[in-house]
Amino acid sequence: MKEAVGNEKLPHMGDNVHAFHGAGLPGLFKKSYTMNVSVFFIILLIGTFLSTRWSGVSIVTGDSFRTAWNYRSSTKPHYKRFEYSMNCSEGNMTKTCPVTLLTTFEPSNLSTGTCPEYFRWIYEDLKPWTETGITRDMVERAKTPAHIRVVVVDGKVYTEKYKWVFQTRDVFTIWGILQVLRMYPGKLPDFDLMFECGDKPVIKKHDYQGLNATAPPLFHYCGDDETLDIVFPDWSFWGWPEIRIKPWSTLRKDLREGNNKTKWVDREPYAYWKGNFKMGVTRHELSKCSKTNEQDWNARIYNMDWLQEMQNGFKSADLSTQCTHKYKIYAEGAAWSVSEKYILACDSVTLLVKPQYYDFFTRSLQPLVHYWPIKLKDMCKSIKFATEWCNNHTQKAHEIRNAGSSFVQEELRMKFVYDYMFHLLSAYAKLFKYKPTVPPGAVEVCPETMVCPVKGLQKKYKIQSMVKSPSDTGPCVMPPPYDPAELRDMLERKDHVMKQVEMLEEGSLKNLKAK
Ligand SMILES: *[C@@H]1O[C@H](CO)[C@@H](O)[C@H](O)[C@H]1NC(C)=O
Ligand SMILES: *[C@@H]1O[C@H](CO)[C@@H](O)[C@H](O)[C@H]1NC(C)=O
Ligand SMILES: *[C@@H]1O[C@H](CO)[C@@H](O)[C@H](O)[C@H]1NC(C)=O
Ligand SMILES: *[C@@H]1O[C@H](CO)[C@@H](O)[C@H](O)[C@H]1NC(C)=O
Ligand SMILES: *[C@@H]1O[C@H](CO)[C@@H](O)[C@H](O)[C@H]1NC(C)=O
Ligand SMILES: *[C@@H]1O[C@H](CO)[C@@H](O)[C@H](O)[C@H]1NC(C)=O
Repeated sequence: MKEAVGNEKLPHMGDNVHAFHGAGLPGLFKKSYTMNVSVFFIILLIGTFLSTRWSGVSIVTGDSFRTAWNYRSSTKPHYKRFEYSMNCSEGNMTKTCPVTLLTTFEPSNLSTGTCPEYFRWIYEDLKPWTETGITRDMVERAKTPAHIRVVVVDGKVYTEKYKWVFQTRDVFTIWGILQVLRMYPGKLPDFDLMFECGDKPVIKKHDYQGLNATAPPLFHYCGDDETLDIVFPDWSFWGWPEIRIKPWSTLRKDLREGNNKTKWVDREPYAYWKGNFKMGVTRHELSKCSKTNEQDWNARIYNMDWLQEMQNGFKSADLSTQCTHKYKIYAEGAAWSVSEKYILACDSVTLLVKPQYYDFFTRSLQPLVHYWPIKLKDMCKSIKFATEWCNNHTQKAHEIRNAGSSFVQEELRMKFVYDYMFHLLSAYAKLFKYKPTVPPGAVEVCPETMVCPVKGLQKKYKIQSMVKSPSDTGPCVMPPPYDPAELRDMLERKDHVMKQVEMLEEGSLKNLKAK
């Protein structure tokens, strides 16, 4: 995954991205937009109509919004949904951010539900600093491994880049942070964070076992049992233009619609995987499960030739058309893989090869509930067994694929991704022993500086994933932390289920016990 991809050429979209203003449809085009812009947004709007049937569904989050916020509601005409505006031709926006910030917004509906289970890991991830708090020295110590620093002072975002980053990972990560601030303006305290944008987590537990050795707090996309990196949603939630992966808010819907078209019973009865073999041991093992003349493991495994894919613009890598098999394999690469959510969303049975790494949501996935666990050892046999067992037990297979898809479709919708960021950043900021200040080398970033100067898919994905209005509901309510016994029980239960599956495979267990 080290190849860079040339800039995609997209039709020029003009500079004005003042979209969805006021959301009154007839009024939308009353200003002097350029032809290109109008055409672009007409298409976008038609698309929106078709995909949401405009039934009071927010473009941004897909969540239903209260009728009171609905501009068509005549009962409360004074209640207008606030819309952010952005005008790339106003002032010198490629260099400066608007002076005024929205800081007084109050969500109209504070009674929101409890956050999904995976939010409880926020407490675990911040545990190394709950006693000590976070000092400037600790954050500075995280600078060596960090690629970027993001500092929020009085609601404004400043960044500093320390190292080269693969593709646009850092850009879309910063973009995501900007969006959570737009989602809940004025609600996040100031913070100062270091971010590592590589594949593997870097803060090793065993380096900080001394009595007074506190690990530097470092944000990263994943972690494992040996590390202390604070996990944060990866860039792909806002899009990955180099390989044409759309923002999650859009792709999630594409996948849901795609699932409707290819029903499970009509899908190929094999376990599908496509990706880059060269990333890590797991995938090397997996490559051995390809069908040969002598052996068929019920797996259909394809290596993705990045050079070839690049030449045809990653078209055959289109994820929303990859849900054509009854089983889909997830195998991590060098570390976590962004593909996990796309695989789970397929409404296929996910065969999850025992992972080493976790990202922010995967620690709450349960074997035999959300996925079928696959051993590292004898992987091919394990895959074959899983497909045969599920072919024989279609009801259980149905339950697993249903739970897996609903998990990503519901608990991982963008509103919850933002809520996760919100709660993590709030809890992180609460630990601060110092008032963050703007570092001398940092530059201010805002949607204008990040959208106006760029072109192509990067611009398109940013506009698509931009939060257009503050959230009409507050963030979900944090569930309580795990108590140590509860956490231990949960992990033991997980182990127990894995063992059951192994015994089933060996034939020493006749059938899965009912829960
Ligand atoms: C954007 O700014 C320019 C320059 O100030 C102005 O002429 C134009 O009307 C603005 N567009 C919108 C949609 O506000
Ligand atoms: C905006 O700033 C850039 C860089 O300083 C400069 O080259 C350009 O002329 C400015 N444009 C306007 C319209 O002021
Ligand atoms: C507030 O939001 C929650 C969760 O989205 C919803 O269940 C509830 O109905 C909303 N309350 C009102 C008064 O709209
Ligand atoms: C603990 O801190 C003291 C004072 O800073 C230092 O002298 C000592 O070596 C530290 N001990 C460990 C185990 O890091
Ligand atoms: C899927 O199809 C069913 C009926 O066939 C329909 O009711 C439902 O709305 C569709 N869902 C999506 C997401 O298209
Ligand atoms: C599936 O059912 C067939 C036919 O009853 C049986 O021969 C086979 O052993 C079963 N396989 C599994 C894994 O349950």
